[in-house]
Amino acid sequence: MPHSRELPLCGMSGTNDSFVRATAEASWSATPKEQRAYLSLQSLFSKIARFCARLQNALIDLTRSSHPIQSSSPELNEILCRARIRTDVSDHLPTLFAESLSFQPRLIVELGVRGGESTFVFERVARLSSARYVSVDIEDSSQVRQHQPWLFVQRDDVEFAKEFPAWCRQRELPDEIDILFIDTSHFFEHTVQEIEHWFPLLAPCAKVIVHDTNQRRIYFRKDGSMGIGWTNRGVIAALEKYFNRRFNEKEDFVDLVNGWSIRHYANCSGLTILTRVVFKSDGR
Ligand SMILES: C[S@@+](CC[C@H](N)C(=O)[O-])C[C@H]1O[C@@H](n2cnc3c(N)ncnc32)[C@H](O)[C@@H]1O
Repeated sequence: MPHSRELPLCGMSGTNDSFVRATAEASWSATPKEQRAYLSLQSLFSKIARFCARLQNALIDLTRSSHPIQSSSPELNEILCRARIRTDVSDHLPTLFAESLSFQPRLIVELGVRGGESTFVFERVARLSSARYVSVDIEDSSQVRQHQPWLFVQRDDVEFAKEFPAWCRQRELPDEIDILFIDTSHFFEHTVQEIEHWFPLLAPCAKVIVHDTNQRRIYFRKDGSMGIGWTNRGVIAALEKYFNRRFNEKEDFVDLVNGWSIRHYANCSGLTILTRVVFKSDGR
């Protein structure tokens, strides 16, 4: 039976409660008594939502048959096993693996490590494709993985992007990024900055995988289980700005915009995969 675990919210300033508090403080000028009442209601809603999620997930665990994990790839088996632990990204781990491996990358860059869910996947992709693999997090996440060729950098990712080409040259790393994974603050302005500073470092044929493109207070995974997050359009709005196009992130979609193929999965906080397509000159 799968375990049910909600990772602490991160990529935002502080805990969920402090976020609620900050939101309330920023947007509402009410009397202290009204503010206290509002926060109590928010807190109550939070508790009810968490209780409902636990109940729903327990019912799902009770009623579903446990399928044996089967793949001829030991790496994929490990990932499928890991994906059974419910997190805000668990649904997407096999997709990250398949999408990245099929690209046979030489250089993978991951922005945002936290507990290392995505890191676990990219480590295996890197091993199977003999790729170099760099992760960046503003917090010290160096203990997350032990795979030796993994390079972890504790920096603000936008600042680090400015030095990245020289940093790669010093380490004899490929000078272009084949796979870029973005999963950091989720704030609009920061994501816009990430796009602005990291996209010029991509190889002509590159893949950018962005998590949290459908952030909801309550989100659902493919198995119907619920998770508690926060409502925020920061990441998808930054992609909309880049592509100058409005997206409906609540539904799965495929699109082709300005030479990028875009595939979006709405479940589990949303995952959007951008693949830069290089068309043959004769248009075929
Ligand atoms: C959602 S978590 C990453 C989850 C991870 N990808 C996984 O699958 O487990 C977001 C991470 O982004 C990091 N982060 C937030 N702002 C950042 C910034 N400006 N530069 C680098 N890392 C940042 C946080 O410290 C946090 O560890």
